[in-house]
Amino acid sequence: MIFDWFYRLFSHDLAIDLGTANTLVYVKGKGIVANEPSVVAVQRDSRGVRTVKAVGRAAKEMLGRTPGSIEAIRPLKDGVIADFELTEKMLKYFIAVAHNHRAIVRPRAVICIPYGITEVEKRAVRESAESAGCTSVHLIEEPMAASIGADLPIHEPSGNMIVDIGGGTTEVAVISLLGIVFSKSVRIGGDKMDEAIVHYLKKRFNLLIGERTAEQIKIVIGSAFPEEEIRTMQVKGRDLVAGIPKTIEVTSEEIREAIQEPINVIVEAIRYALEKTPPELAADIVDKGIILVGGGAMIRNLDILLREETGLPILVAENPLTAVVLGSGRVLDNLKLLREVTT
Ligand SMILES: Nc1ncnc2c1ncn2[C@@H]1O[C@H](COP(=O)(O)OP(=O)(O)OP(=O)(O)O)[C@@H](O)[C@H]1O
Ligand SMILES: [Mg+2]
Repeated sequence: MIFDWFYRLFSHDLAIDLGTANTLVYVKGKGIVANEPSVVAVQRDSRGVRTVKAVGRAAKEMLGRTPGSIEAIRPLKDGVIADFELTEKMLKYFIAVAHNHRAIVRPRAVICIPYGITEVEKRAVRESAESAGCTSVHLIEEPMAASIGADLPIHEPSGNMIVDIGGGTTEVAVISLLGIVFSKSVRIGGDKMDEAIVHYLKKRFNLLIGERTAEQIKIVIGSAFPEEEIRTMQVKGRDLVAGIPKTIEVTSEEIREAIQEPINVIVEAIRYALEKTPPELAADIVDKGIILVGGGAMIRNLDILLREETGLPILVAENPLTAVVLGSGRVLDNLKLLREVTT
């Protein structure tokens, strides 16, 4: 016991938001020490054996730009672990970054996982963190961590609705008294919007662009509800007919049309969750409104669209991209909360 206390003095307990698009790491006493894309670049030899070449930002730079033998892979896709081996390698990398690549002294870890992943996936995450040197590993579900990070009064017997629009999934959850009362998850998020933009430009302009360009377009001129001012952007890609590079101008109206389908799925998920919420808690939500977190919450005018569609107050959290990891970090500091909200 006394040794535990002693080790803890020198250890850096950490919290990790293992997202499909971005992984964030929080170290107790230091704050957020890593915030990088969840991408691993691997090289395959002639026998098919994979070696990791880069992780995180360096690996994302390689997406769509790699020579034959190197592949940039996203080990988590659509909110589930698509590649266990690479998820483990990625986790190890981030844990090493958190400790500045020094040997680590028995850190505790709180790892945030997508809501509803299977027991097998949970075990894989836990074992990866343990083999990366963490002594006690606690798993927390994303909506719970997000609610703590967004400062929702989850200790009270009153309903809070939180919507986390990530890269791979959108999770709608109703939380009361430290428990998830209802949750609905759809495998639609920012990634599907990017894909929709690629598809739209191909169909409409015969222009082929990569997913990274599509993401840029979405961030710069994407919107969910008409704006007063129409914005435009020059987009470079390859003309599918002539086969050569070309530049076209796209408008925010066109991009809104392009991403309408995935946005509608998100709206429907929220409607469904509202219908399924027990009446007392629904009444609380009418008063308090819906809180949006996740990178997808930053799509321009999404709050206005949701207000129109639901008639409820909509609030985008102050820190949509970091709420989950900050919430997980806060759990590290509070043993009682740690016991109550992690598995
Ligand atoms: N300003 C912005 N406007 C629109 N979308 C944005 C903006 N900034 C980031 N995004 C999008 O947010 C998504 C990433 O969000 P986030 O980091 O919350 O996902 P994640 O937690 O990794 O994924 P998940 O929660 O599904 O596992 C990406 O699709 C990204 O393109
Ligand atoms: Mg997330």
